[in-house]
Amino acid sequence: MTYTDEQLPIFLDIATVAAENAGAVLQKYFGKLETIGEKGRPGDLVTIADKASEAVVLEVLRRHFPTHAILAEESGKLGDVESEYLWVIDPLDGTTNYAHKYPCYAVSIGLLIGGIPQVGVIYDPYHNELFCAAQGMGATLNRVPIAVSQISELSKSLLVTGFAYDRRETSDNNYAEFCHLTHLTQGVRRSGSAALDLAYVACGRVEGYWERGIAPWDIAAGVILLQEAGGQVTAYDGSPLKIDSGRILATNGQIHTEVSRELLQTPPMSAWGANSSSLP
Ligand code: IPD
Ligand code: CA
Ligand code: CA
Repeated sequence: MTYTDEQLPIFLDIATVAAENAGAVLQKYFGKLETIGEKGRPGDLVTIADKASEAVVLEVLRRHFPTHAILAEESGKLGDVESEYLWVIDPLDGTTNYAHKYPCYAVSIGLLIGGIPQVGVIYDPYHNELFCAAQGMGATLNRVPIAVSQISELSKSLLVTGFAYDRRETSDNNYAEFCHLTHLTQGVRRSGSAALDLAYVACGRVEGYWERGIAPWDIAAGVILLQEAGGQVTAYDGSPLKIDSGRILATNGQIHTEVSRELLQTPPMSAWGANSSSLP
């Protein structure tokens, strides 16, 4: 890598400024949207707030790092594709919540260096919760260090997951996994913000998160945040995570092997119904 140790805190500081400024934009529009658009698939919403938030993040990052590449949800790929620095941005993670005035959404900004998540900022402006991390620097919530929970039994765990926008088009829609893990744990939440799901694992509010059909901007910041908080992030089968693979398993580390095994052994939906009381 060509960056120096002194540069990571600078990248983190600038990403924090960008996330806080973008969060202020989200707060300005929250509850005041006049129109809500769809991006293609039914339910895949986009609003003026997504675009205005992204514009703020892009302006800050381009001003400070004009040679870096960017992958932003609403604008796509920008800048020098040869750069080893890639900022991965979700300007509003939780758009469906936001459009319904449900206060669970965030700005997510991750920096990949040589393809590896190194810096992450997730900002929840409604609750004024700022999650930050950089490689080797630990993870913080509102500048106070955070760590994953120490719960080591699946039966005592609370998990969180999500359902991608293509869920109506495929039987691989995470419904069976949701039912199966609901039986085995104290519960499975569905927050509607993948970035906050990862942040909540990182600060010990839930023990694990998994999802299919996700994009790099949903998870780029959360991956380094969780790793720096002592958690584990992999593919469903425990192999190294590929950021653009569409699947992620993220836990406090203690329950990782168990959740991985259960995801791989999930009974099909046809096993549910009249006999479901016998499962698992
Ligand atoms: C969505 C949220 C949601 C997850 C979806 C994502 P968006 O992002 O993170 O929790 O289940 O897969 O697409 O569209 O609100 O930015
Ligand atoms: Ca998202
Ligand atoms: Ca988004």
